Amino acid sequence: MESIVQQIAAYRQEISEYQVDGAASLEAYRIKFLGTKGIVKGLFGEMKSVPNEQKKDFGAILNEFKTFAESKYEEWKAAISATEEKGSSIDLTLPGDPMPLGSRHPISLVRNEIVSIFRRLGFSVAEGPEIEDDWHNFTALNLPENHPARDMQDTFYLNQGPDWLLRTHTSNVQVREMEKGKLPIRVVCPGRVYRNETISARAHCFFHQVEGLYIDEHVSFADLKQTLYFFVQEMFGKDVKVRFRPSYFPFTEPSAEMDISCLLCNGDGCNVCKHTGWVEILGCGMVHPQLLENSGIDSNKYTGFAFGMGIERITMLKYQINDLRLFSENDVRFLRQFNAAL
Ligand code: DAH
Repeated sequence: MESIVQQIAAYRQEISEYQVDGAASLEAYRIKFLGTKGIVKGLFGEMKSVPNEQKKDFGAILNEFKTFAESKYEEWKAAISATEEKGSSIDLTLPGDPMPLGSRHPISLVRNEIVSIFRRLGFSVAEGPEIEDDWHNFTALNLPENHPARDMQDTFYLNQGPDWLLRTHTSNVQVREMEKGKLPIRVVCPGRVYRNETISARAHCFFHQVEGLYIDEHVSFADLKQTLYFFVQEMFGKDVKVRFRPSYFPFTEPSAEMDISCLLCNGDGCNVCKHTGWVEILGCGMVHPQLLENSGIDSNKYTGFAFGMGIERITMLKYQINDLRLFSENDVRFLRQFNAAL
């Protein structure tokens, strides 16, 4: 028995020095020590050659050794599966790479809002070219060559010749929609327009408009007013006051400009409304019969209204912005503020 006990001590030493560096060496260990033909089993087989009075002590030594060999095995096994898990699976607790969310440009926010209000009234969206010919930007809108009203808009002409220009307003889309000849027409036309203006806090060489056009039988000025009242209430709230002033546009007759009570001073008078309490936000009127005829629409049967508004002006009122240049300078500190509903 003495020699077996020494043998066990040697195995114990061997196990303590055993190097397990992966599943293969662990399995080799298991087979060698714990397998059906392994060392532990073999030692138990020695039991029968041990004299009876020593069986109890020997059994205790053997059991203790077995537990030691098994616990080592479990220990290594757990260590191996822990490293495997780490290597193969994703750690969901790691903080993610930040992906900063941009924000919509205030002009886009307001354009989308304007369009969605008119959509609710059954208007759809139409778009037209920014590079336009003289006919669609001027002549078809009752602005023939040498018409004094052309001077109201400083036009960028293109090198291609006097017929090509950058549209000065979105009214060109009116003409293009009427030319399609499909009636009735009920569209809003958002887009960018260009004018040769000196850049300042109040003027820029490009800006944005939304044009509206409704042509059908029996369309009246009352329809125009009601549509625009609805728009203003949806856009600025129920408390805003509205007034129409007679005006002149070659493409509408009669024509009007619409003012709303100043949002900054509630009509009391401030710099924005030049102490009048009112701010002009759009031009409008009944489509001039000549425009209908220009596009082959029977002006005895059909009537219509049109309007055009500047998106910048409305955005400045809504967000209390006092300099037009901020819209195109792309200063992130400015743009970042508009992360409201997209
Ligand atoms: N086109 C005009 C402008 O740029 C705005 C406008 C006024 C459009 C009256 C219209 C309208 O359709 O009826 O100043």
